[in-house]
Amino acid sequence: MLRQWHALPGLFLALVLAVTAGTGAILAGQAALDAATAPRVAEATISLAALAETITTQIPGVEKITRTPSGRVRVTYLEQGRPRSVVVDPKTGIPTAADTASPTLRMITNLHRAWLSGDGGRLVAGGAAFVMLLLCLTGLLMLKRMFGGWLALLRPFRGDGIRRWHLELGRFAVAGMLLSSVTGLHMSLVGFEILPDGAPADVFVTASGETPRSFSALDGLATLSLANLREITLPDPADASDPIIIRTDEAIRFVDAATGQILREDRYSLAWHVRDIAYRLHTAEGMLWLSILLAISSACGFVLALTGLTISLRRRFASGRVRANAPAGAADILLLVGSEGGSTMGFAKALHRALAAAGRRVHLAPMNELPARSPASQIIILAATAGDGEAPASASRFIDKLAEWEGSKPNVIIVGFGDRQFPRFCGYAEQVETACLAHGFSLAMLTERIDRQSSEAFARWSEQLAFRLDVPLQLELDEASAAGQRYRVIEREDYGAEVQAPTAILRFAIVPRFRWLPAWLQHILGWMPRFEPGDLVAISPPSDPRPRFYSIASASGSGVLEICVRHQPGGICSGYLCGLTPGAEIMATIRPNPAFRPDAKATSLILIGAGAGIAPLVGFVRNARPGHPVQLYWGGRDPNSDFLFGKDLEKAQKAGRLARLSTIFSRIRGGGYVQDLITRDAADLREAIAAGGQILICGGRDMAEGVRIALAEALAPLGLDLSTLRQNGRLLEDVY
Ligand SMILES: Cc1cc2nc3c(=O)[nH]c(=O)nc-3n(C[C@H](O)[C@H](O)[C@H](O)COP(=O)(O)OP(=O)(O)OC[C@H]3O[C@@H](n4cnc5c(N)ncnc54)[C@H](O)[C@@H]3O)c2cc1C
Ligand SMILES: Cc1cc2nc3c(=O)[nH]c(=O)nc-3n(C[C@H](O)[C@H](O)[C@H](O)COP(=O)(O)O)c2cc1C
Repeated sequence: MLRQWHALPGLFLALVLAVTAGTGAILAGQAALDAATAPRVAEATISLAALAETITTQIPGVEKITRTPSGRVRVTYLEQGRPRSVVVDPKTGIPTAADTASPTLRMITNLHRAWLSGDGGRLVAGGAAFVMLLLCLTGLLMLKRMFGGWLALLRPFRGDGIRRWHLELGRFAVAGMLLSSVTGLHMSLVGFEILPDGAPADVFVTASGETPRSFSALDGLATLSLANLREITLPDPADASDPIIIRTDEAIRFVDAATGQILREDRYSLAWHVRDIAYRLHTAEGMLWLSILLAISSACGFVLALTGLTISLRRRFASGRVRANAPAGAADILLLVGSEGGSTMGFAKALHRALAAAGRRVHLAPMNELPARSPASQIIILAATAGDGEAPASASRFIDKLAEWEGSKPNVIIVGFGDRQFPRFCGYAEQVETACLAHGFSLAMLTERIDRQSSEAFARWSEQLAFRLDVPLQLELDEASAAGQRYRVIEREDYGAEVQAPTAILRFAIVPRFRWLPAWLQHILGWMPRFEPGDLVAISPPSDPRPRFYSIASASGSGVLEICVRHQPGGICSGYLCGLTPGAEIMATIRPNPAFRPDAKATSLILIGAGAGIAPLVGFVRNARPGHPVQLYWGGRDPNSDFLFGKDLEKAQKAGRLARLSTIFSRIRGGGYVQDLITRDAADLREAIAAGGQILICGGRDMAEGVRIALAEALAPLGLDLSTLRQNGRLLEDVY
């Protein structure tokens, strides 16, 4: 709900906000420039009477003397019946510059305040201030909920490019944006007379009508200095009964120009002061630091409006809408989805459609949006597993929320989505089952485990569900399997045939979804895949819909998807991939794998792999900062046949991105396995780990097991075990 409140106004009003924030940034920048270049004088020592005297003797026809918030003195006078304005030196009263506002700045001010039109435009500007306030507040609450507390907002954020920018900029600029929106809204409400402006009522004060005396002889001005002044309006020379009107910070005074007597003094009300403070804080005129802060936060507001719009559009295009989603408070089935890569959502939507067609009111939501109570009699949970048996992104807070459930407990049905290639198959679904039972929920069916998004297995399970709920279910799963992006093979390199380890490095170009739309626009709209080395690509061979994962060596910025595939004996997908030739096209889906990335703060990187496991490690090496200590341990069969990425590694060494390359080959005389290198270099590795190094392992399960044993022995003298290293994020594994 909070997300919709944050996204909807953001979607519709992003452009209005971008203009309001952009023009606000320019005006605040102008205010900063004005404050920085204003004259610095001791205003309290400059007598107002003396200053008015000098100005009126030097400039004929003076109507008004104004002190701007930045401390400039502006004089308005009539010259041949036309109003003119000039800036004078506050000490001498001598004109220093003509006071001409630039037409562009006037246009920007008008655009900011009233969209270049009258009351309608002012209404839009006021609405923009309100929406900005709403976005700041809902954004702050969302951040708090997302990161689990206010203090967590101070910690570093993770996430992909644009979302991360949105979060970082939002956190940085929220204080300035809140100030601008609250004060702007107040000014609008005053402008539309919804709040009182507190200005003194217009009064008509009549002076004595005698011949005016010099200003220095007037008692009404005697105690005032330039520091008190806002504006003096001089009497109309044609009307002897006109008084001098002096506006200061506290009051408006009417002074007789002949006798010097104060004819009337109206002190400002509280409402006037509130409006004045709101105006000054909003415009920041004369306040250098505040104007700089507002200029920066408004510029961030401009970017935030655009990034927010992009995120909303992406989410809409990526997820599509769930048709006929019953509200949580009126549903008889809650259908909750825990997904990292989005494929489980396809199954959930198909199930939602089938249940809705059977007349059930179903509320479909991410697991993290489990409500605190519901009239539903059934909760169906479709939970994928991420990381090493962990919760996927949209279920990260589910188990905590389960503890907050109020009222009677519906029956629960759980379906785990996982992959038998991982050691903890459907590990997260198991955690959910344990938590549900611990919190007193009953299971209405045995927990099902679906391997590699098998449509057949899900369809079989849905038949049992139909029987259990006593409803006819017609499941249409095509939407679930239709996801993916097209890639074209542009290059392949073959290795290892002579040593019975046929392996291909495959490079694919990303085929844009719409050939007629510029690629950069498709990037912004999220229609082009994004990936980094270490992410995975899921590929299904034509004869089997179940996807296999391959570790990615390249980054999407290069426009190339690069993987390394070992052809397994009898392997369907690896056989299919190793048979591809340049020009062939495949469908594939990127699976982000943020848990397998080098830590930029690690003092050194120790990369360990064998065979095709080298792919992400090569990507990390290419991305390494020159001079950063990166070591790669890699094992193959024969340097003359399967030295994968040999040339890239040589180049990286020359460029200073790979400090040390240690290879070992098993099919040559005196050869061995990569774990033998770990045992050989145990002392060096101990030193590197003790100094804050990080280890990343990638490749087959047997290799990983051997490496773990060798590492555990190497690190034992430090009193460090591998699980401690793993918990601290200093040992990461991508093992299959
Ligand atoms: C997170 C992850 C990352 C992966 N990254 C890569 C990668 O970068 N490069 C790569 O080549 N593979 C990688 N794999 C393995 C890949 O996903 C497939 O499992 C592999 O290509 C075999 O698929 P297949 O369809 O050819 O075999 P299948 O047709 O599914 O199986 C056929 C035969 O091959 C055997 N087999 C399947 N997988 C393996 C294996 N890994 N080791 C030994 N025998 C096996 C099976 O036991 C079976 O006998 C990764 C797996 C995971 C889970
Ligand atoms: C990085 C990564 C880690 C995974 N870890 C596991 C795991 O530990 N156990 C498991 O059974 N499946 C694991 N899987 C497989 C996914 O759970 C499975 O592909 C699921 O269908 C993905 O659903 P989703 O696209 O909705 O996230 C993992 C997949 C990825 C990409």
